[in-house]
Amino acid sequence: MRGKFITLEGIDGAGKSTHHAWLIDFLKRKGIDVVPTREPGGTPLGEKLRALVLSEPMHLETEALLMFAARKEHLDKLILPALASGKWVVSDRFTDASYAYQGGGRGLAEEKLRALEDWAQAGFRPDLTLVFDLPTEIALQRLAETGHRPDRFEQESQAFFERVRQTYLFRAHAEPGRIKILDSTESLHNIQKKLEGIILAYLF
Ligand code: TYD
Repeated sequence: MRGKFITLEGIDGAGKSTHHAWLIDFLKRKGIDVVPTREPGGTPLGEKLRALVLSEPMHLETEALLMFAARKEHLDKLILPALASGKWVVSDRFTDASYAYQGGGRGLAEEKLRALEDWAQAGFRPDLTLVFDLPTEIALQRLAETGHRPDRFEQESQAFFERVRQTYLFRAHAEPGRIKILDSTESLHNIQKKLEGIILAYLF
């Protein structure tokens, strides 16, 4: 049986990485063979492209094309083979991030993103997408508290993150069957309980 594909999304600082680790552990405890991965990245070539897009200044369309180039490689080498062999794949970000960051954040036309999505994915979509939502001022404060050097995206303005956030929320409302919103201002314990409920209800 084909495995399930789950993606995690949200603005930087929304706690996605913590929930990614918890979700992998939860699924393993349920006896599922699960592959953790991330975007941009997930393959040796994808990780090289990640290093470039997170550090080098570039044209917006170059940025979008590199995101999808990394994604094509990720699908071909890791995601699709794993799902075909019955494994579940849980990715820290996927295509909704391109709509949110390159589209909402930077203003790339949605139809260009849709054309790239159709080309690279041929109709393939996640089974479930979890959007961790948080007011941008709290997210930026949390990012600042981590003390690590901000990458190209993390250096963006609050207005940029507000557009990214609104794009995620808009997409979630347009596709309520696939995309679930989780309130990241709640305690970790409450969020984990909700995640557990969503996974059990939608995927088993
Ligand atoms: P992120 O998950 O925030 O990595 P980390 O937690 O290690 O900082 O992802 C890196 C950045 O890549 C993030 O700021 C959003 C950006 N991104 C896009 O702009 N478009 C995309 O399609 C993807 C997958 C990520």
